[in-house]
Amino acid sequence: MQKFSEFMQEWLYGENGYYRTLRVGKEGDFYTSVSVSAFFGYSIANYLLEFLQNRPNQRIAIVEIGAERGNLISDVAFYLRHKNHLKNVEFATLEPLQDLHSIQKDTFKSVCEGLELKIFNAFADLKKESFDFIIFISNELLDAFACELYYEGKMAFVEDFRLQFLSQKEADSSFIGEIPVGACEFIKEIEDCAKEWLFITFDYGSKQKRGEFSLRFYRGHTTQNLFKNYKEQDFDLKENFGKWDITYDVDFSFWEKEFLKTGAKELFFGRQNRVLVDFGLDQVGQWYIHTFGLESFMQQSSKIRTLIEPALLGERFFGVGFLKVL
Ligand SMILES: C[S@@+](CC[C@H](N)C(=O)[O-])C[C@H]1O[C@@H](n2cnc3c(N)ncnc32)[C@H](O)[C@@H]1O
Repeated sequence: MQKFSEFMQEWLYGENGYYRTLRVGKEGDFYTSVSVSAFFGYSIANYLLEFLQNRPNQRIAIVEIGAERGNLISDVAFYLRHKNHLKNVEFATLEPLQDLHSIQKDTFKSVCEGLELKIFNAFADLKKESFDFIIFISNELLDAFACELYYEGKMAFVEDFRLQFLSQKEADSSFIGEIPVGACEFIKEIEDCAKEWLFITFDYGSKQKRGEFSLRFYRGHTTQNLFKNYKEQDFDLKENFGKWDITYDVDFSFWEKEFLKTGAKELFFGRQNRVLVDFGLDQVGQWYIHTFGLESFMQQSSKIRTLIEPALLGERFFGVGFLKVL
């Protein structure tokens, strides 16, 4: 018998795990803001300009975590290069999956010919570089953490691909939902990499606890729930093992609590459309028109709309930023 989190970890990241091959985009199982439009990365980069300008003499790394093809870090670098802000900045991904290294390098090269993308296998390698300031960026990373499932004081275990909920003394008897595992360790790694850092991420979820399970499976742009109700499993875990993405709504209040423990402050939290506008999406649009012309911008505009439209990605996703400075 395994904890659900161990089962999920194997499903997503094990030897034949789901994330060992490419999964995002039109031919994949689901879209993400990164796969929809480069304006997502350009807007993040525009927000980062201020941090870079204020630290002209520091060695800074922008590191994407959970980069898949490496599009987000490439889009960020592309924008900063156009804005002539490369002097003291290095670009990197943190990628434990070896198979993705060459894919990320190729993407970066195709977008930013002449610039280098570093790839770190683990936080320890990043730490060795002794950067003065590290900016971590990610999209849909937190919802890819393995989690436990709790139902009114019981926790889920898996035996023979069937779920069982067993009473746990320490579990909250009023809580129903997912709790990510490894969050404390992950944040500790971030803290240890540099004395000063910024962590920016976007994900699906909310700061309110829902009081129900949100865990679901994605494949071929369709979704399936795990449960009919908490007792009846609605999804064949054996037949589908490693073939579907497993995800759940991020509880941002949980992550906020963990990040604030480091002494970091929350710089912003808000719906994706609001955050991207605050990041300067308008200015980015003007820059794009000025640089590449109105016609090219018009070809991008429906994709930009997807990023900010309330019913699409604009209000179902949230952005959050934590800053630790001395
Ligand atoms: C839902 S995908 C998102 C991909 C991409 N960021 C995007 O928005 O298109 C989640 C990615 O996070 C990666 N991931 C999950 N946990 C990670 C961790 N602790 N360190 C590095 N990557 C991780 C997975 O391997 C997967 O590529």
